[in-house]
Amino acid sequence: MILPKKHAKSAKIPPKGFKTANEFFEHVFNDKEMIWMGQNTNHLHDENEITDAMVSCLKSKEYCKYPPPEGFPELKKLILEDLDLEDLDVLITAGGTESLYLCISDILKPEDNVITCDPGYLIIDDFARRFSNEVISVPIYSSENDYKLTPDLVKEYMNENTKIIVLIDPLNPLGSGYTEEEMKEFAKIATENDIYLLHDITYRDFAEEHFLAAKYAPNHSITIYSFSKVFGMAGMRIGSIIGTSKQINSVRGVLINDLGTNVISQAGAIAALKTKKDWIEHVITTTRNNQKIIKEAVDEIEGIFIPVYPSNANMLAIDLKGVGIDPKVMADHLLEKKIFTRQGTYTSNRFGENYLRVSFSIPDYQVEIFADEFKKAVEFLKE
Ligand SMILES: Cc1ncc(COP(=O)(O)O)c(C=O)c1O
Repeated sequence: MILPKKHAKSAKIPPKGFKTANEFFEHVFNDKEMIWMGQNTNHLHDENEITDAMVSCLKSKEYCKYPPPEGFPELKKLILEDLDLEDLDVLITAGGTESLYLCISDILKPEDNVITCDPGYLIIDDFARRFSNEVISVPIYSSENDYKLTPDLVKEYMNENTKIIVLIDPLNPLGSGYTEEEMKEFAKIATENDIYLLHDITYRDFAEEHFLAAKYAPNHSITIYSFSKVFGMAGMRIGSIIGTSKQINSVRGVLINDLGTNVISQAGAIAALKTKKDWIEHVITTTRNNQKIIKEAVDEIEGIFIPVYPSNANMLAIDLKGVGIDPKVMADHLLEKKIFTRQGTYTSNRFGENYLRVSFSIPDYQVEIFADEFKKAVEFLKE
C-alpha cells in the first residue's frame, strides 16, 4: 500500500452535484455555452498566426522527434527579448506550474522557510511544504497594506531561515501589483539577506505598469513565465524559468521532463511572441473595458465592493461579506446560469468566505451577461 505523504494535499471538495473535482471540470469544459470566468485563461484570440504555427507544426509531423531538452533557442531568445532582459538563461517548461515546482524543489532545504501570501496561488504553498518544514503565509486581505504582500510585511514576518519570498505579481486572485519603489525594496531585502525572490509574472502583460525583480536583483531573483494567460495557450501547457546560468544549471539537476517540452506548444509560443505586437492591444483593451462593466454592476449594489480596482490582472475579487452571501453559494448559483466563477476558498485559506473571483478576458457580451445575472443573483440570494 502507498502511504499518504505528510505534505499530501487534501482532496478538493467537488462542487454541488459532482462526485469529483475532475468530473466537475469535465462538465464545464465540455459545455460549449459555459461563460468562462472561473479560470484566468484568455479567450480573446481569434484564429491567428499562433493557431497557424501550431497546425503547420502538427502537419509537418515534427512531433515524431524529441525537441532540444531545454527548449528551442529561438524561443528562449524571444522570451528574453519580451522581458527586455540580457545575460540570463531560460529553461522552457510545461507551464508556470512546473516552473514553480522545479525552482522550489531545487532551492529549498527542510530547515528553510518560504514567505507566501493569503490570498494567493495556493499550489505554491503546497509545493513549498513538500520541501521545507515551514511556509509563512502572510495575511494580506486588508486595505491597510493595499491588499498585497508589502516589503514591510515581509520584514515583519521573515526570519533567519527564510530562503524564498514568493511575489505573485500581479496577484491571483486580487490583481494587486507592485510599484518600482516596492520592487527595489524587495530587491534590497533579497540581496542583503541572500534569499530568492521567486517572481511569478504570469499576469504581467495585463498590468498598467510592471517591474521585474530580475532588473534590480539579478542574482537573487528567479522569474516564472507562462504562456497560459495573455498568449491564450493554457491548454498547450508551456512556460519557462528565467534566471542566471548558475540558477538554471542548478534547476537542470532536478528536471523531471528531461526529454523536453511539447514541440507544437513551442511552435505556437514562438509565433505568439513574434506576433505579440499585432494582437496585444485588442486583448488588453477588451480586458480593461470588461472590468469596467463588472465595476459598474458592483457599484450599483450596496454592501459589496472590489478590493483592488482597477485590477492589474485579468481577474478581480468581489467582496460579498457586506450582503451576507456565501461566495460558494453564489458560484453554484451562477453555474446554474452557465457562468463559471470561483469562490474565494480556491485562493485563500483565511479569507475565502469573503469574495468571489471572476476573470474577464472573454468577449464583452459574455461579461454583460455576467453583470446582469450577478445583480439578479445578489437580490435573490440576499433574501
Ligand atoms: C500565479 C499563477 N502562476 C502560475 C499559474 C499556472 O500557470 P501555467 O498554466 O503556466 O502552469 C497560474 C494559473 O492560474 C497562476 O495564477
